[in-house]
Amino acid sequence: MTNIILLGPPGAGKGTQARILVEQRGMVQLSTGDMLRAAQSSGTEMGKKVTEVMAAGKLVTDEIVIGLIEEKLAEGGTGFIFDGFPRTLPQADALGALLDKRGDKLDSVIEMKVDPEALVDRITGRFTCGQCGEVYHDRTKPTHNAGACDVCGSTDLRRRADDNEESLRKRLFEYYQKTSPLIGYYYAKGTLRGVDGMAEPEAVSAQIAKILGPA
Ligand code: AP5
Repeated sequence: MTNIILLGPPGAGKGTQARILVEQRGMVQLSTGDMLRAAQSSGTEMGKKVTEVMAAGKLVTDEIVIGLIEEKLAEGGTGFIFDGFPRTLPQADALGALLDKRGDKLDSVIEMKVDPEALVDRITGRFTCGQCGEVYHDRTKPTHNAGACDVCGSTDLRRRADDNEESLRKRLFEYYQKTSPLIGYYYAKGTLRGVDGMAEPEAVSAQIAKILGPA
C-alpha cells in the first residue's frame, strides 16, 4: 500500500484530508501533533516537557518526534499517512532510514498549497471532537446540532491551546523557516506533488485521489 506525507502549514487541511483517506482507503494516519497531545493529556514526563513548547508554537525536538514515529512503525502495517511529520531535514532523513529498514518506501509527498492569509481564519475558527477527532470550523463547518459532534454525538468539543493568532504566527514562522525546505528536498527526490489547498475540502480530496490512483 502507498505511504504518503501530507506537507503544509498549520491549517492547510492535513488532518481533514488524512481522516478522509483513512475512511476511504483504510490508510493509517500518523500525526505527531496528535501523538504529542495524547502524551500531554496522559501526563507522561514527555507530555509535560512538550506542553509549553507546543503552546508557544515552537517545534518539539527531533529526537522526541523521531522516537514517536519509530515506535509506531515498529508496530507494523503499511499505507501510512505522515501528517505533520517530517518537519525538519533531520526528521526527513530519519524517516527515509526508518522506511528503508522495513524494506518500505515513500510514494508521494503531497504539498498542500494555501495562502497564508487564509490560515488565521481556519485556525482561530477550528474545533474538534475530543472523542472521535472530527474536525469542525465555526463558520465553514459548524456542527448540525450546536454543542454535539455530528459523527459520534459527543459533547466533548475542544479547542487547542495553540489555536490563537499569537501561537499561529510562531507556528507559521517555524514552518517557513524549518519545514518549507522539505519542498525542495522531496522535489529533488522526485516524490513531490502539489494540490490547491484553497479549494473546497471535497475538491482537495479529488486532487489527492488523482495523485494516489484507484483505491
Ligand atoms: P500539528 O498538530 O501537526 O499542527 P499543525 O501542523 O500546526 O497543523 P494543524 O493541525 O493546525 O492543521 P491541519 O493542516 O491539520 O488543518 P486541519 O485539517 O485541522 O502540530 C502541533 C504542534 O505539535 C506543533 O506546533 C509542534 O509544536 C508540535 N509538533 C507536531 N509535529 C512535530 C514535528 N514533526 N516536529 C516537531 N514538533 C512537532 O484544518 C484546519 C481548519 O481548516 C479546520 O477548521 C478545517 O475544518 C478547515 N479546513 C480544512 N480544509 C479546508 C479547506 N479545504 N477549505 C476550508 N477550510 C478547510
